Amino acid sequence: MKITKICCIGAGYVGGPTMAIIAQKCPEITVTVVDINEERIAKWNDKDVNNIPIYEPGLSEIVGEARGRNLFFSTDVDKGIDEADLIFISVNTPTKTYGAGKGMAADLKYIELCARQIARVSKNDKIIVEKSTLPVRTAEAIKSILDNTGNGVQFQILSNPEFLAEGTAVEDLLNPDRVLIGGDTTPEGQKAIQALEDVYAHWVPRERILRTNVWSSELSKLTANAYLAQRVSSINALSELCEKTGADVNEVARAIGMDSRIGSKFLKASVGFGGSCFQKDILNLVYISKSFGLNEVADYWEQVIIMNDHQKRRFANNIVKTLYNTVSDKKIAFLGWAFKKDTNDTRESAAIYVANDLVNENAKIAVYDPKVSQKQVLADLDYLETRNSIENAKFVTSFSDAYEACNNAHAIAILTEWDEFKQLDWNKIYDQMQKPAFVFDGRNLLDGDKLKKIGFVYQAIGS
Ligand code: NAD
Ligand code: UDX
Repeated sequence: MKITKICCIGAGYVGGPTMAIIAQKCPEITVTVVDINEERIAKWNDKDVNNIPIYEPGLSEIVGEARGRNLFFSTDVDKGIDEADLIFISVNTPTKTYGAGKGMAADLKYIELCARQIARVSKNDKIIVEKSTLPVRTAEAIKSILDNTGNGVQFQILSNPEFLAEGTAVEDLLNPDRVLIGGDTTPEGQKAIQALEDVYAHWVPRERILRTNVWSSELSKLTANAYLAQRVSSINALSELCEKTGADVNEVARAIGMDSRIGSKFLKASVGFGGSCFQKDILNLVYISKSFGLNEVADYWEQVIIMNDHQKRRFANNIVKTLYNTVSDKKIAFLGWAFKKDTNDTRESAAIYVANDLVNENAKIAVYDPKVSQKQVLADLDYLETRNSIENAKFVTSFSDAYEACNNAHAIAILTEWDEFKQLDWNKIYDQMQKPAFVFDGRNLLDGDKLKKIGFVYQAIGS
């Protein structure tokens, strides 16, 4: 079976970039990305390709090349479904905020809505691909909805989780370590896997395309994120011990990372991991384990989250303690708000929680992030529901210039590792600040010796 028309439901951080690459690499396939969010689709269709809603290095160029040729963005979900031979479901699967499993389980309402819509609209056989990260055995639920509410057409369900990281999405998609496709072992299931494999094989070497059963594929995605997050929490746990003992966490990370069994990646101590995936997926793993009565397994993975929450809180507490136990009415500049560099995504960013703790102490926060707007900063704080939006706006302001944010500040906190922060004129910043001028480096980003020479009191995580 040869795929000629693809539809992707969900034009977010995964759907948008992934479909842009498929369209670029497979010019004979028509790729339509649909979403119910009109504002988002309008931005994807903006004449100026620099205004697309997701910032990823290299993405706007690829969208510029393929859009209007074989890449389309639309709000007409029914039409997209109807015309496609293969449909990616790439909608959000956030942590549930209500009912059973509140705060832990993945909320599958958007997935179910997609399945029902596909069942209602489809008039010919289709391959349905789970691209969203889903709990184990979700494919079974999707299949049941499709088979019981559809128009008698045949559906094959595949699991094809996405492993891209934000900020490096284009590079990760162009050169993936592996592409994972889970499907049924029946001849029809294998045919569907083959059809999807042939799409990826336009640019991914076949030996990197892995076939598994559906459940292994779903569980592998949760496991990969749990392992990666565990590495961050492990090094962050040691960062606190380093601070007490005089060891330097960067030196420890380098020493252990040179052991080829450990490897050097994901050993950067930080103010805590953020992003839309790690916490959500681990909580999901914890919930699934608990629901099978595997309490020790659940507790083991939950500790990764507990450590991460502790790291964010202790970063904020340390600022208060160092600033003579009061930050009331003091200006604290935040350099960075996004959860990592090279993205405009702020979901679960450590900055949100650190700001919230400091506002609880009546600090005035001045934010500079090259890709995040004031509207987004306030929306993130409002979402926590600690205080109302008028109160948040009284305490937190964004600036479009790093020097303005730092002007007259008592302290600077580095929350995101944007490269441009290293290039700032730190002498100029020092001159503008209250003295003593503190820098709390939550990313181990800056040259501490250089800053100390200028006169800053410099503290980094883990040293
Ligand atoms: P996102 O919130 O950026 O995008 C999801 C989009 O789906 C939204 O624009 C929303 O409007 C749309 N949507 C929801 N329900 C819809 C419906 N019924 N019909 C049409 N559109 C609908 O989310 P994301 O970051 O792209 O993540 C999507 C999935 O991919 C999640 O399951 C996530 O866990 C997984 N994932 C994310 C990343 C990442 O780095 N962000 C990486 C790998 C996997
Ligand atoms: C993650 C996974 O890496 C990716 O494979 C999956 O598809 C989606 O979830 P993402 O959340 O986009 O990707 O970014 P990632 O690079 O994993 O970083 C997550 C968080 O961990 C960030 O806040 C980052 O700053 C932090 N981190 C990462 C550290 O604090 N230290 C590290 O050494 C690495």
